[in-house]
Amino acid sequence: MFITIEGMDGSGKTTALQRVKNHLEDLNYKVVMTREPGGLPISEKLRELILNKDSQGMEPWTEALLFIAARKEHLEKVIKPYLQKGYIVISDRFMDSTTAYQGGARGLGIDYLNNLQKTILEGFLPDLTLYFELSFEDAEKRLSERHEEKNRLDEEGRKFKESVKAAFEELAKKELKRITVIDASKTPDEVFEDTKKIILEKIELWKKEKH
Ligand code: TMP
Repeated sequence: MFITIEGMDGSGKTTALQRVKNHLEDLNYKVVMTREPGGLPISEKLRELILNKDSQGMEPWTEALLFIAARKEHLEKVIKPYLQKGYIVISDRFMDSTTAYQGGARGLGIDYLNNLQKTILEGFLPDLTLYFELSFEDAEKRLSERHEEKNRLDEEGRKFKESVKAAFEELAKKELKRITVIDASKTPDEVFEDTKKIILEKIELWKKEKH
């Protein structure tokens, strides 16, 4: 089963999923967590190229195509092999990030990038996507408490980030069967409980469908 998590930086998605991974392992599931852009040497190099502040002014299409290129490598070399070995694969970001950031905020077109990626990924879609929804103010507040070095996209302004959020919301409405919205404004424990519940329900459903 392939699960992806999406949302703005600062939405708490990575923390919640790390806790869910530990919980699933306690239940004896084999789980691997990975991230985009990244996950293997070629994709990490592309990540560095895209997110480095020296790449300021990169053309939107260059940015989109590099993210998609990193994704294709990640999918073929990491995600699919683990799925074949019976793992639950959880990816911190996947195709919806390109649709929201480059399709929405960079203006390349939400439907256009969504459909283009479906073609390039040859129809391979996540079984479940969790979108962690949080207001711009709350996300910025959490980010400011982190003291991590910001990457090129973290430094984009409010207008850009509000467009990313609007694009994720539009996408979640269009892909109702695949994308579930998580209210990330709740406490970390509540967010963990909500996330765990949805994933466990999906696993049960998935087992019934497969057997
Ligand atoms: P992160 O690893 O801290 O989430 O940083 C990745 C940044 O790249 C984040 O700001 C979201 C952005 N991004 C895109 O713009 N498009 C994509 O396809 C992906 C995967 C990430």
